[in-house]
Amino acid sequence: MSIVTDYFLNLEKAELHLHLEGSVDPETLVELVADSTIEEMRARYQYTDFLGFLQAYKWVTGLLRTPQDYALITRRLLEKLAAQNVRYAELNLSAGVVLWRSQSLPAIYEAVRIAAAESPVEVNWIFDAVRQFGPEAAMQVAEFAAEFVRDGVAGFGIGGDEARVPARDFAHVFAFAKKAGLHIAPHAGEVSNAQNVWDVLEQGAERIGHGIRAIEDPALLRHLRDNDIPLEISITSNIATGAIASLDAHPVRKLYDAGVPIILNSDDPAMFHTTLTDEYRLAASHFGFSNAELEGLARNSFRYRFAGLSGCESTAL
Ligand code: ADE
Ligand code: ZN
Repeated sequence: MSIVTDYFLNLEKAELHLHLEGSVDPETLVELVADSTIEEMRARYQYTDFLGFLQAYKWVTGLLRTPQDYALITRRLLEKLAAQNVRYAELNLSAGVVLWRSQSLPAIYEAVRIAAAESPVEVNWIFDAVRQFGPEAAMQVAEFAAEFVRDGVAGFGIGGDEARVPARDFAHVFAFAKKAGLHIAPHAGEVSNAQNVWDVLEQGAERIGHGIRAIEDPALLRHLRDNDIPLEISITSNIATGAIASLDAHPVRKLYDAGVPIILNSDDPAMFHTTLTDEYRLAASHFGFSNAELEGLARNSFRYRFAGLSGCESTAL
């Protein structure tokens, strides 16, 4: 291992945008599915565009059947995070998918919470609804999230296909979540446009999942900077899903230089063949972020957390 690798690995980091279900590697799927092969599983992680990625993600969720399956993938993920010196994580659970499959969200949440409590990585959760499932389904997610707000659920998010249902249709859902004490972290401006970022801001978003299309709107860049609203950036994800055509075209450096608060994240590390450490390394190697700048981004990953780190405030911040 090179010295450079060690530097990024050793940096104390937090993960604020990581989907539990997108962290399941093909090897774990083989364990979960009788008579399956690693080749079959790997083949399912191939896709050519964003909607293809969402289909692959949905397929993986279909293999997670019991609370024990969810506990297993949580343990596996947290082992990997601990090995990267990730001290704190806010993990997205696709609660909207769990409910859509008529699985027991309380039983699954209890299983992942217990699994997470065994890890040295401190964890809080963000319950994600699915945009294209619509406001009624999202409200059910928000209601469950509200039920667990004092039990480790820090936020409410919306993932999926942002082009399908406008954020204003979820206005009452966001309002309910906020009133219940949940923080709001929806995906927006990942594949669509800057207006979608404005739309979730209007609904009270405190962090933006991706938000890279903000680069198309100087007024939005100023707004994010002046109001200290961070973008959860996942470079490898954006290339893998085709949200951005090439690494050279990725706006992370321009967003940073415009003064927009940035956090680096892995999003769906198994599905994008990346890790949080890789994302820091990529920011250095391809986008010229200095070590001092990357240390600043690592500090951001703690600074913009919604909760947690009760015991280690002084080392983390
Ligand atoms: N769910 C998991 N990963 C996602 C992404 N990158 N965009 C939207 N929804 C997601
Ligand atoms: Zn995401």
